[in-house]
Amino acid sequence: MQSVNQRKASFMSIRNRLLLLPETESTNSYLLDRPELLKTPGLVVRSVRQTAGRGRRGKVWEGGEGNLYCSLVLDPSQYAIPQPSFTLLAGLALYRALENKGMRGHWIKWPNDILWQEKKLAGILTETKQTLYGQRLVLGLGVNLVGGPSQFSAEIATQSVTLEQAGMQVTAIQMLQAFLLAFGEILDAVKVSGLTPFLADWERCCQSLGRQIWHETSQGWAGAKIIGLASDGALKVVDVQGQVQVISGGEVRFAKPNP
Ligand code: BTN
Repeated sequence: MQSVNQRKASFMSIRNRLLLLPETESTNSYLLDRPELLKTPGLVVRSVRQTAGRGRRGKVWEGGEGNLYCSLVLDPSQYAIPQPSFTLLAGLALYRALENKGMRGHWIKWPNDILWQEKKLAGILTETKQTLYGQRLVLGLGVNLVGGPSQFSAEIATQSVTLEQAGMQVTAIQMLQAFLLAFGEILDAVKVSGLTPFLADWERCCQSLGRQIWHETSQGWAGAKIIGLASDGALKVVDVQGQVQVISGGEVRFAKPNP
């Protein structure tokens, strides 16, 4: 059991500097374009607004003022875990942070989207950059906190939801603090216990075991059933021929609503 001081130290080990911007294109791009800022693992950049927010697989990330847009610098060499698992752990931290704020009924869609009532509440974009100081991860987090569909373009509006729509009032700084606390605790514990205990918790929070999915392959969309996570955080599925397959990237779509 960690003491209060240790918990504080873990939190500070991540959030040792916060840069607050009124507006930027994308907090991930802000960091990636300024290698000198990548020297400091734990640096967090938060912007009140983003004018060209980026999502996974080249998509855009939209939203108005009041939502959380931030990016965190990590030095992956400090942790003996495969790189894709940082994204997974960040998703788990976000799930826990939302739970700590009183959210219920949310779940993680692999690898790290947070959904509520089948709509997207939050997303994480992890990018890497080789610098003079070694390799760095820039982990960008977007959480829809306030407002409704009018802040999104028509296509995204039907697939997105905000915490306010779920009946919760959480500010961007409260959400950021809750996330950094949860993520700091996870990263500290990973140094001691490795990844395995967190993969089990991730499986619980994803509520997706046994669900039928479609996933993108080089030959098009293929059907499969989720059976768990591989040791590096990749998604383990059984395909229509009954073969176990491991999915490490590409898009995953659920064949039917989450029960
Ligand atoms: C996704 O689900 O597609 C990932 C979305 C990540 C959005 C965040 S908002 C802060 C950071 N800056 C960006 O441009 N993207 C990430």
